[in-house]
Amino acid sequence: MATYISHSPAETESLGETLGRAAESGLVIGLSGDLGAGKTQLVKGLARGLGIAARIHSPTFTLVNVYRGGRLTLFHLDLYRLETMEQIHSAGLDEYLRRRKQGGER
Ligand SMILES: Nc1ncnc2c1ncn2[C@@H]1O[C@H](COP(=O)(O)OP(=O)(O)OP(=O)(O)O)[C@@H](O)[C@H]1O
Ligand SMILES: [Mg+2]
Repeated sequence: MATYISHSPAETESLGETLGRAAESGLVIGLSGDLGAGKTQLVKGLARGLGIAARIHSPTFTLVNVYRGGRLTLFHLDLYRLETMEQIHSAGLDEYLRRRKQGGER
């Protein structure tokens, strides 16, 4: 497993941008870290790498933010308040976590 150490918000965003450029449909990236760890910063880079122009915000009051207009659609989920698979399922979020080819069956 590769380890990347970021020393600045710009470096974190740049890492996200690299991931966004290389991303293929169905890719799921799990972000784990405390408040202010830089998760949203990485997602900003992801959006840039995908060619998405919209401003990225933490999905704090929503469970999922959807960003279209880029090479791929970006789904930014917040699982912070959900503790079990059952809750994830009830919230209708497992659909987003399943690897899925664009245009394939759901
Ligand atoms: N190396 C770094 N990588 C990313 N962000 C950094 C870094 N160093 C400092 N920061 C700062 O830390 C903050 C990270 O905020 P960000 O919103 O990305 O965190 P978060 O993990 O999404 O938090 P939350 O759980 O509250 O949504 C930003 O203000 C950013 O400028
Ligand atoms: Mg955040």
